[in-house]
Amino acid sequence: MEIERFLSTTGPAFRIKVDGQTYSYLDYCPHKGRVITSEGFLIVDGRIRCPFHGAEFDIKSGELKVLPVSKTPCPPNCRLIPAV
Ligand code: FES
Repeated sequence: MEIERFLSTTGPAFRIKVDGQTYSYLDYCPHKGRVITSEGFLIVDGRIRCPFHGAEFDIKSGELKVLPVSKTPCPPNCRLIPAV
């Protein structure tokens, strides 16, 4: 799986290719606002795992699939934000 970082119109972002489709999101974890492609970033079973507290997001939709391991819950509408 290829990941390419770029600067979108709304900030740092990344592209990821899956099954011939490219998905782009802001490089930002909606849990606590950290850079999601930091060291330890993983792709697991079609999900992007944040290295900080383990929240996992569906690559294709950006939806939260696995809650973070943290005392701080995710805010409402916790999902990856598409980048253009
Ligand atoms: S900052 Fe990403 S899971 Fe907490």
